[in-house]
Amino acid sequence: MATFLITGANRGIGAALTESALSAGHKVIATSRDLGKMPDFKHNDQLTLLPLELTSDDSINQFAKTLIKKKIEIDYLINNAGISLNNHFFAATKDELEYSLRVNLIAPFLLTQKVFQVLSKQAKIVQLSSGAASLTNTHQFKGTPLDTYAISKSALNMFTLRLSLQVSSEQAVVAISPGWVKTDMGGDQAPDTPEYVAAKLLDTLLNIGPEDNGTFIDFAKKPIDW
Ligand SMILES: NC(=O)c1ccc[n+]([C@@H]2O[C@H](COP(=O)([O-])OP(=O)(O)OC[C@H]3O[C@@H](n4cnc5c(N)ncnc54)[C@H](OP(=O)(O)O)[C@@H]3O)[C@@H](O)[C@H]2O)c1
Repeated sequence: MATFLITGANRGIGAALTESALSAGHKVIATSRDLGKMPDFKHNDQLTLLPLELTSDDSINQFAKTLIKKKIEIDYLINNAGISLNNHFFAATKDELEYSLRVNLIAPFLLTQKVFQVLSKQAKIVQLSSGAASLTNTHQFKGTPLDTYAISKSALNMFTLRLSLQVSSEQAVVAISPGWVKTDMGGDQAPDTPEYVAAKLLDTLLNIGPEDNGTFIDFAKKPIDW
């Protein structure tokens, strides 16, 4: 059984993946910036809830110190928390661009750096990316109000590739697009439920090996063009 660290676990894909991993007998460190917003997970003997506000360097540092102090070893670091501000280039503000980069790029970068020492020898680092991050497929998203979001997720993809050059030969870092999912972010029109995606995603995560290091894949492990 593995130990998962899942950010943004209080709703959406993060909550569903937490529930799936717990139901399959894994341990989960589930984080939220407000623990009061956590749903009631089943199997909570395998669950540790910890606060983590990803726009705060202090919160990230404090969180990493807690893991180190508790001697928790992480097998799967799931950088799931993210935001999409729905904007187009001409209307987007500097604050929106900075906030998108802060949550979707800088936070996973800092968190991964700070918790790296508690990752297991065969750990997998998983970035929740997006199809909108693909440089090759950008034209498919023409007209969508995803400008600061796509920019931040594309940068997250490059972070994934850069880190893939530095992890050990037994570890792997991957960028995964969950597809279009019915969450607060994805909206009601999305085809897939978070529960369906989380179940598929868990299967895929458990089958990721060092040979997958530095790949961009969907929740069923199908490669996506960078
Ligand atoms: N849904 C889709 O269709 C879709 C498509 C492609 C990629 N993704 C990616 O999949 C991941 C999960 O998406 P989702 O649909 O589950 O989103 P969601 O329902 O909007 O949930 C986002 C999660 O991120 C957390 N979060 C946001 N800002 C944070 C911060 N500053 N500090 C800590 N936590 C923060 C939220 O916490 P609060 O409740 O406190 O705000 C929430 O738990 C994201 O990275 C997203 O970009 C989703």
